[in-house]
Amino acid sequence: MLSDRLLKVLKSLGMAYNDELGTFVHRRTQIPLSIYYDPKEGEVRAIDQTKLPYELSIWKTRDWKDVVLAIKQMIIRGAPLIGCAGGFALPLAARKLRERKPNKLVEELSDVAQRVASVRPTAVDVENITKRIVNTARQALADGLSSQAIAEKVEYEAIDVFVDNLILNKALRDRGREFIQDGDVVLTHCNPGSLATSYGGSALGIIEEAVAGGSNVLVVVKETRPRCQGYKLTTWELLMAKVPMVVISDNMVSSAIDRYNVTKVLVGADRITRDGYVANKIGTHDIALIASSYQIPFYVAAPYSTLDFLRKGAQIPIEERDRSELTKFYRHESLFMKGSDLLSVDALENWPEEAKLTEKDRPSRGEIRIYNPAFDVTPPNLISQVILDVGTYSPNQLGTLDENAVKEEAKKIVDSYLASLGVL
Ligand code: MRU
Repeated sequence: MLSDRLLKVLKSLGMAYNDELGTFVHRRTQIPLSIYYDPKEGEVRAIDQTKLPYELSIWKTRDWKDVVLAIKQMIIRGAPLIGCAGGFALPLAARKLRERKPNKLVEELSDVAQRVASVRPTAVDVENITKRIVNTARQALADGLSSQAIAEKVEYEAIDVFVDNLILNKALRDRGREFIQDGDVVLTHCNPGSLATSYGGSALGIIEEAVAGGSNVLVVVKETRPRCQGYKLTTWELLMAKVPMVVISDNMVSSAIDRYNVTKVLVGADRITRDGYVANKIGTHDIALIASSYQIPFYVAAPYSTLDFLRKGAQIPIEERDRSELTKFYRHESLFMKGSDLLSVDALENWPEEAKLTEKDRPSRGEIRIYNPAFDVTPPNLISQVILDVGTYSPNQLGTLDENAVKEEAKKIVDSYLASLGVL
């Protein structure tokens, strides 16, 4: 049975159900699953990442539209995790569409998939994952199944995709181990961790695996303005997993390389194209340039669902987010200062900031344009190796990958893991 399979896989990964949270928690690190779908309740449960590190709280919904909002507001974030969330949005939608005619159900499901996939346009995993589930629904329609049966198939497939994802994430952690040596000082960016994936993280997962295996590794964590995923999420995870770290602000990379003798850079990815370009959190390209001038290897780790077989690097869509992400901190600081009598009572009364902010690309005198792209693209010549769950490749080798062969390899990894648990 499918849910039996999910339970066995979660157990094998060291996860146990926690009644209070209504989700699974890792026994050693006490980190909960970033996302979980309860088929009995038809409910998605996820860690609310906007509240970390101040509060660990589980966000819940039975409505796919809330999943869209949660991705937009970054309650759920990180390309691989957005993929899982998009996958689970589909059974939520299918449940609501069970009364429709089968062809209507599948048509609307495909619209939902497009809506979910377009919320954060740079992250590609959600596109790949929802495509697989919608194809299952289409096949069920072609087989003449009823709406009820199609909705069930969609739910099975979404859970199946999640099971695959858990197993492949473990494979990625294991495969990346050879890139980390005892004594390494690894610089990372944003949060390519457990919080960004179904289980255990990409770049951080590899480091954590090495530390759990007894290696002595120091992680240099970049704050990652403007949303500070490094400062808020990566530190939270590394503390839970007892991995030693040093936090720096984003403009301290060269200084930290000199001070701590950084031996390698290991980051995640939101989209990897076959011509060897990697889209990742804004600032990644800067790190790659600095690492190259220091001749420090620059590694990228990601699940194969982050591969884009269609577009070239130059065609990667870059999400630009609201300017308030940059200005919020200063607004809070100024209000705090006023509330603490550090500013005079009439300070801020005529504060012109909002009035002078402009949408224009080239502001006029006395206007401020705030530029807030969420991602940048690192070219292949700055990347030493791309570590995927299905294998490791130089950026130039990515062009030789065949989509079907990659899927076949992933299936082999999943099947052999399931067979070892006796649930194939
Ligand atoms: O904007 P976010 O927080 O969704 O950005 C994602 C990231 O944390 C990184 O870009 C990461 O390396 C990719 S997700 C493993």
